[in-house]
Amino acid sequence: MPNFPEHITKLQPYVPGLAISSLASELGVEPSSIVKLASNENPLGTSKLALDAISNSAQEFSLYPDNDSLVLSETLARFHGVPRDWIVVGSGSEAVLSMAATALLTKEKNAVYAQYSFQAFAGATQRTGASHKVVASPDFHVDLKGLLSAIDSNTSIIYIANPGNPTGTFLYNSAIEAFLNEVPSNVVVLLDEAYVEYLPQEIRSPAIQWIQRYPNLLVTRTFSKAYGLAGLRVGYGIAQPGIADMLRRVRAPFSVTRLAQIAAAAAINDEEFLARTAECNRRGLDFLYDGFARLKLDYITSFANFVLVKTGDGNQISQQLTQRGIIVRPLKSYGLNEWIRISVGTQAENEKVITALSGEISSRS
Ligand SMILES: Cc1ncc(COP(=O)(O)O)c(C=O)c1O
Repeated sequence: MPNFPEHITKLQPYVPGLAISSLASELGVEPSSIVKLASNENPLGTSKLALDAISNSAQEFSLYPDNDSLVLSETLARFHGVPRDWIVVGSGSEAVLSMAATALLTKEKNAVYAQYSFQAFAGATQRTGASHKVVASPDFHVDLKGLLSAIDSNTSIIYIANPGNPTGTFLYNSAIEAFLNEVPSNVVVLLDEAYVEYLPQEIRSPAIQWIQRYPNLLVTRTFSKAYGLAGLRVGYGIAQPGIADMLRRVRAPFSVTRLAQIAAAAAINDEEFLARTAECNRRGLDFLYDGFARLKLDYITSFANFVLVKTGDGNQISQQLTQRGIIVRPLKSYGLNEWIRISVGTQAENEKVITALSGEISSRS
């Protein structure tokens, strides 16, 4: 028998949402009739600038991609007004979260994060053999004071997603800034802003100013959500070179594909698509909230492109919705047995999910 270390054998495999093609063949229907609202993808599709850039690209697929994503890094550096060596591109922001764990954690060290945090924080930590300290999240909000209290002499990294997933809750800038002032400078704070583009401008973080002020801050962003490029896998981190340099050293070689680099560099300036995406999301959230209120279901007001709703037995209701061709995310793996997470879809998709929920809930009584 191969002898795998215990921290590997104890890993739980990642369970993604059901694939559209699997459900379509199980139900014997066309894939186009399936509504997938389980992975917080963009219901409007992909930035057209990205699609055009890909189709106009030379498509030199026989050549490895640029290992440092030079053109994309330069584009992102210009976009954010930072030097190029502050940008670390990864195959999805998940890869950047993992690079941070690989670079910082050993089995003697620990990572601190909040209960109901994005599952990748636990996965990235566990793969290194390090331990984690999970701080309770009353009312689904990250307890920043609790995170500070959890820091000990072995803490190397604190993970915070803002807005959080699956909670959708948000930490305001003043609270984060007060927190950053208190974190010891040898502890890295990874602030995951995967959903920042869904926030109103006036509450977005001054991420770059913070990075200039705090050499222990790493901010991550993704092209998977608002830019509609989840299938290409591209995200990035921004940090001062002290951190960025180390992350680049542990990045798997050539891990960001040529197409991902081309698409992301084009998408970053697609303001029209981003504005349309945010507007569709705002209207979609309001529609879902109204539907939940009519069905007397509790929900958590969301700052992202999904919403947590309390349906009672989340596994059961997810299965029932699946039978109606709608894929949502049950949250048993987060210990939220009574809740499901629904991504905001197009108006037609949102209507379908509310109609289906209403059908299931009325058949209970
Ligand atoms: C909070 C958060 N961070 C990061 C990611 C990962 O995104 P990516 O596709 O860039 O790896 C997700 C995806 O669901 C997320 O919810």
